[in-house]
Amino acid sequence: MTTTEKPAERSPVLTRGLVSKDGSRVSRAVYSDEQLYLRELDTIFGKAWLPLGHESQLPKKGSFFTTFMGEDAVIVSRGADDRIRVHLNACSHRGATVCLEDSGTAKSFVCPYHAWTFAADGRLVGVAMEDRYYKTVPIDKSRHGLTPVAHVDSVHGMIFATFDPNARPLREALGNMIPFLDAIFGRQEGGVEVIGAPQKWRVPTNWKIYQDNFAGDEYHVSSTHGSSVETIQLDWDAYLEEVRHCYVEGGHGFAARFVEPNGAESAYTTVEQPSLFSVETQAYLAQEAAEAERRVSAVHLRCQLVAGTVFPNWSLLPVYNTFRICHPKGPNEIELWSYFFVAKNAPEQVKRELGKAYNFSFGPAGIIEQDDSAIWESVARTARGAYGRRGVADYSMGLGEESWHEGLGCMITPRLSEAAQRNFYRHWAAVMEVGE
Ligand code: FES
Ligand SMILES: [Fe+2]
Repeated sequence: MTTTEKPAERSPVLTRGLVSKDGSRVSRAVYSDEQLYLRELDTIFGKAWLPLGHESQLPKKGSFFTTFMGEDAVIVSRGADDRIRVHLNACSHRGATVCLEDSGTAKSFVCPYHAWTFAADGRLVGVAMEDRYYKTVPIDKSRHGLTPVAHVDSVHGMIFATFDPNARPLREALGNMIPFLDAIFGRQEGGVEVIGAPQKWRVPTNWKIYQDNFAGDEYHVSSTHGSSVETIQLDWDAYLEEVRHCYVEGGHGFAARFVEPNGAESAYTTVEQPSLFSVETQAYLAQEAAEAERRVSAVHLRCQLVAGTVFPNWSLLPVYNTFRICHPKGPNEIELWSYFFVAKNAPEQVKRELGKAYNFSFGPAGIIEQDDSAIWESVARTARGAYGRRGVADYSMGLGEESWHEGLGCMITPRLSEAAQRNFYRHWAAVMEVGE
């Protein structure tokens, strides 16, 4: 069969030039292409440190939960030795899903297919009818444990893992994001805990459309969220005037605003109307802010992260006491897992009220969340057409305006900008080797 098309035109997606050097122009093919997606599973989700959940979800020895690293299902468990381990949730016999539960406690996992039994630390400890049917060719149990991931580590109780044996240490990969994470999760003696199971829902979009929005798309808030903003009477215009965008090496970035020392707004959660909360909770938030002043770097506390992306798929929304993990499910689908977190030592009433505020705003049925999903879906849909995928997405707002902030240890913009999104795509293109 002959064709007049040059090979590069037939398969343009795995070539250089999909993202401009400065990150301001991104080929829309990156939102829909199957081959690129398969490469992402290997090169990004198969190598990066990925967020899995929080240690508070594993309260005792034998606790476990299941989740995903890219499209690989994994079991995260706390062993009898208290160590947290992560194994592929795929049987070493023929690959059936070993653990079908979301979470629980277990001393062992029994595969539902042929009943091989694995200890919580991944060892194969039982082979059904071994004596009868593995006589002539014995099965070497020591070589058939569940496959462990290469490294597991945590920061402020947040568990991360990587498949890459040569990955740099987690704290190095998070780099200059660490002090900003301290200002969210390290504010209180005792740290934070996740309450309840994550809420999960799917959006038919590409994972990068979602993550670049979290990395720094504050431009959309007054249009996409116009009606919600009216409902809760927030002054988003004032917010847009004060917002800044920060980014660090590694593709991590976020929107931030500067808050006064010890001001009421220096506690997280107060982007919500404070009047949503009882007097007791308001008093707690003031006290919480005061404790954070004593524990966290002052300059990082001033620069309050509003919404952010830790590359590749961890989204932070601390002002609503929530973070999310975005699991890719093909080039055109994501599953969002949304977690409610709160200071472990907060009184029960405070936890309840903050939980309500989270559900009201950014839970799956929250008024703000609803606006976004429809838009992200449409951006992905228009990138699937033969012509749409040839288009270019523009991220040029505020190009070149950002500068290095010595105290914060990050790049920062003087005003509303798409700088953090450019940083996200520059990093993505470098890892994928498809940059200009
Ligand atoms: S696939 Fe698990 S025991 Fe056979
Ligand atoms: Fe939004």
